[in-house]
Amino acid sequence: MKAARLQVIGTVAGLIGIWAMTAGGCANEQQKKGQELYAHYCMHCHGENGRQNEGFNWSSMPDPKPKDLSNKSEMGTFKDEDIFNTISRDMKDTSPGGDKIGDDDFAVPTMPTFKYTLSEDEIWAIVGYVRTLHGMKLEFKVEERKKELTESLKAAQEKFDQAKQTFEAAEKKASEEADKKEVEVDESLYAKEQAAMAAAKKELDAAQAGLNNFSARPGKGVNVPRPDLTMTPDVTAQQVELGKRLYQNKYGCNGCHSIGEEGGKVGPALDRAGFRLNGTWIYRWLKNPQSMKPETRMPALGLSDADAKAVTTYLGTLRAPKAEEAPAEKPAS
Ligand code: HEC
Ligand code: HEC
Repeated sequence: MKAARLQVIGTVAGLIGIWAMTAGGCANEQQKKGQELYAHYCMHCHGENGRQNEGFNWSSMPDPKPKDLSNKSEMGTFKDEDIFNTISRDMKDTSPGGDKIGDDDFAVPTMPTFKYTLSEDEIWAIVGYVRTLHGMKLEFKVEERKKELTESLKAAQEKFDQAKQTFEAAEKKASEEADKKEVEVDESLYAKEQAAMAAAKKELDAAQAGLNNFSARPGKGVNVPRPDLTMTPDVTAQQVELGKRLYQNKYGCNGCHSIGEEGGKVGPALDRAGFRLNGTWIYRWLKNPQSMKPETRMPALGLSDADAKAVTTYLGTLRAPKAEEAPAEKPAS
């Protein structure tokens, strides 16, 4: 009798458990995804719990050091959207005379962007996880955002269809008039409609890209064309200077890579990149590392073709001599 009752209680508990899992299933999955992505892309700098000097790269980084994500009094001043925008932004050239940077713009080059690496949905999952590090919860309605993007795509499609119809009618009318008068078609009669259609097409493409990037990683399936890296010696010299500047002040490559004694250690040292790697390979890697190694921790930082060319040229000059065999590291015999 007693055993049977216990079994019933067990079954009810089990049912409640299943019910709770289904009800909270979606949120839990987002949470788990956020945690995994954080562990893969953020933890080396920010630490497992977001604390100072917890990540293995923390102490090797140039100043400012990665922010303490567990500090509620500071992190609590940011809205979910602010955190999203930090993680998903365009890098800015912080050199004197570089990009314009407003008072409210976050522009620390050694905090990488993930805009070109992860989907919007994934970045929201990360923001949700970052919130838990300082005991808060994501307020932003991610599902609503997706609905909004779907609706703007629908609206853009309707607008484009309408503009196309208007254009086709104007074109037909102009060509009928030309037939009647037996003259060439006057294209200026429908130029305005044609321009409106082109503008609507642009909006449609942007809306489509917005929705795609919500759920798919932006670099997926993107092939980087072979660059032309030939240049005259004086252009090379300029490109090396520019590349070095961008390496530090715009893309913060030094946050993850060392040259000599300086720099982070998330990626390999680049002292000998000029010997070891060829220009075309480096260029392609910088533009879209995920296309060569999907799970690499190095994010695609959104380098323009020109920036990638300059940084590639700079890396080509890194030709430090091979480190001497260090006898001290050999076991004493
Ligand atoms: C290469 C090291 C590095 C990596 C990787 C990195 N960060 Fe950062 N992060 C930094 C640095 C440096 C700062 C700037 C600290 C400052 O401004 O004082 C920063 C700042 C931040 C801030 C505060 C922004 C602000 O407005 O002050 C947030 C939030 C953040 N990082 C989240 C992340 C998340 C999430 C990831 C992973 C997707 C990540 N970081 C990956 C180095 C890193
Ligand atoms: C968040 C850290 C991070 C940032 C920022 C970063 N890298 Fe990397 N990089 C890596 C990691 C990790 C690897 C190793 C790739 C792998 O095997 O996954 C790597 C690999 C490389 C390689 C290949 C090195 C080799 O010996 O195979 C080059 C070249 C390189 N990065 C250049 C750059 C440049 C230039 C920048 C700035 C535009 C940059 N990286 C920014 C982490 C980073």
